[in-house]
Amino acid sequence: MKTKPLSEQVAIVTGGGTGIGRSFTEALASAGVKVVIASRREEVLRKAANEINGKLEAERVFSYPLDIRDPLQITSLTGRVLAQWGSIDLLVNNSGLAVPESVEAITEDGWDEVMETNLRGVMQLVRAVLPHMIGNDFGDIVNVSSQAGKNGYADVPSYCASKFGLLGYAEALRDHVRKKDANIRVFNFCPGLVDVENTQPGEEPREGFIHVANMARTLLYALSLERNVVLEDVNIYCR
Ligand SMILES: NC(=O)c1ccc[n+]([C@@H]2O[C@H](COP(=O)([O-])OP(=O)(O)OC[C@H]3O[C@@H](n4cnc5c(N)ncnc54)[C@H](OP(=O)(O)O)[C@@H]3O)[C@@H](O)[C@H]2O)c1
Repeated sequence: MKTKPLSEQVAIVTGGGTGIGRSFTEALASAGVKVVIASRREEVLRKAANEINGKLEAERVFSYPLDIRDPLQITSLTGRVLAQWGSIDLLVNNSGLAVPESVEAITEDGWDEVMETNLRGVMQLVRAVLPHMIGNDFGDIVNVSSQAGKNGYADVPSYCASKFGLLGYAEALRDHVRKKDANIRVFNFCPGLVDVENTQPGEEPREGFIHVANMARTLLYALSLERNVVLEDVNIYCR
């Protein structure tokens, strides 16, 4: 089965300029991966890319503005990455958001925003990337769901529906690549509370939260497993 060292891989990390996505990006870039970070706020992306590249003294992180809800922007992103490097080896579906709401006062706008970002956006991006992974006989897809994809919480019903839905979609995707006998692994992260404010190495996370670095370490561990190993949902939270 085809393998590829991280130093030859190209990744797209959605939401890679902030929080968990940024931590993933730093870890991947440090391991030699070329990482395209994509989300809406261009200045946030550019700042993150400059800081990480500066630290590494290498040009490994590239920013690309993307609203994951827009299929045209997705085609443009994937086209650009493929034209430049010829492959997308790793797709990290990390972008996501929640809106405060309740089951009784849920709004159509809130529901649409959450479902289109957390669920339909991922489906659109995977649909654009998958044929190239299959064509190159290599790929990893990582989905960031949540403990809210495993348990329901009354203050975020749309978010829970989207994150449960993401795990269902990922199962269908895993079944699809298995039936195609494709060299593609599908990993899901289901984190509990992750501190995206105290993110520096050695900084103490808030009570009940885990340090974001644990997410990055777990990602690199998952990617290091052999190609025929299926690691299903990674439930990771503060004990
Ligand atoms: N932190 C936690 O405790 C926790 C726990 C469980 C799961 N998660 C999940 O982890 C993922 C990362 O969250 P985080 O905690 O690191 O928070 P975050 O810093 O707010 O990250 C969310 C990212 O998603 C991007 N995004 C939002 N809407 C987008 C859109 N329409 N198109 C493209 N990108 C979009 C945001 O960038 P722009 O606003 O610039 O687009 C941002 O970079 C999310 O999926 C979240 O649900 C987080």
